[in-house]
Amino acid sequence: MFEDLRPRPPDPLLDTIRQFRADPRASKLDLGVGVYQDAQGRTPVLRSVKDAERRLLETQQTKTYLGAEGDLDYARALGALALGNDVVGDDTVFGVQAPGGTGALRLGAELIRAANPQAQIWLGRPSWANHDPIFNAVGATIRDYQHFNAEKQSVCFDSLMAAMKEANAGDVFVLHAACHNPTGADFSMEEWQEIAQALLRYRLVPFLDTAYQGFARGLEEDMAGARLVFRAVPEAFVSVSCSKNFGLYRERTGALFVRASDAAKADSVRSNVLGIARANYSMPPDHGAAIVRTILSETALRSMWEEELVAMRESLQGVRARLARLRVNSIDFAPIAQQNGMFATLPLTKAQVARLKDEHGIYMAPSGRINIAGLMSADLDSFAAALRSVLVDTAA
Ligand SMILES: Cc1ncc(COP(=O)(O)O)c(C=O)c1O
Repeated sequence: MFEDLRPRPPDPLLDTIRQFRADPRASKLDLGVGVYQDAQGRTPVLRSVKDAERRLLETQQTKTYLGAEGDLDYARALGALALGNDVVGDDTVFGVQAPGGTGALRLGAELIRAANPQAQIWLGRPSWANHDPIFNAVGATIRDYQHFNAEKQSVCFDSLMAAMKEANAGDVFVLHAACHNPTGADFSMEEWQEIAQALLRYRLVPFLDTAYQGFARGLEEDMAGARLVFRAVPEAFVSVSCSKNFGLYRERTGALFVRASDAAKADSVRSNVLGIARANYSMPPDHGAAIVRTILSETALRSMWEEELVAMRESLQGVRARLARLRVNSIDFAPIAQQNGMFATLPLTKAQVARLKDEHGIYMAPSGRINIAGLMSADLDSFAAALRSVLVDTAA
């Protein structure tokens, strides 16, 4: 059976993480990992999560099956958090618990294939590294356009508008709701307005990928653009991940929300999504969702969580403000203070990234993506000096 099975190439980011662990240099710096870290380089369990877990331990009576939908109260509470209170009870919107944001994207991808196999999936480059594998896994045709110019550190909005004009009616545009991974470069409210108009004009469907709500400006502010789009169009997908903002990475906690043009179609979406879930994993894991439900439904826990989220956001913004003051040859760091979330992408070649690793012990994704949180306690002058040395020597 396995004679013709070829190993897949190693994931470059996992390879970077492995090399970092094996590096004996004390001054080494990990900017590759995709998780939030505090100034001590830890990714601790949030206090609100610990408290919710204690309550669950004391009060949970059973671990019997829930069903393919998972925890309905969780999906309602998360829907209200991400999309606003008015989605609760809206019979044109169907929400379902999913195993992480990845699981939600995969459910959505399979639903797209079932509903409209011709739909092409449009990704702005660069995008989150798992978007391609997820949509490839369901056999979808992926099209791309430029999202970001790393030299200018700015969004290529014209490229998105041109792609929307070129797309076929029914095509799907995957848009990062906030804190774009890997660039940190989000759309302005004016751009979101234009996006909503273009989606309507060309009859396109948005897939709003939400993995960092609360990491940019605030829980409400971060979703303003995505909500505007969600309300403007007749059909939309929203994937939500609780991995980062609740720090629940390994608990696989997410949800998919789908808007249909009427209640009957939403019902059909519901039965199809539940069928897809049942055939994949039967039902989602409970623990993370139970934690999020507990936090969101209890006032004191919710305030504690919101405070912890503000602290994570402010730490990231602090690093961004310090980075923005750096002067390094051709790299314009100033826009990094206006960008959002955990990541930035620097205009570095693969060779320059390799030299930063070999000569300075600075590890980042081969694409030049850095994790802002990894610089929390770093000496930014040394970081700038390392960048200068690889930029000068390899410029020619
Ligand atoms: C843009 C984006 N979408 C979705 C996810 C999925 O997160 P998870 O499956 O860990 O919840 C991530 C995680 O890094 C992400 O960056």
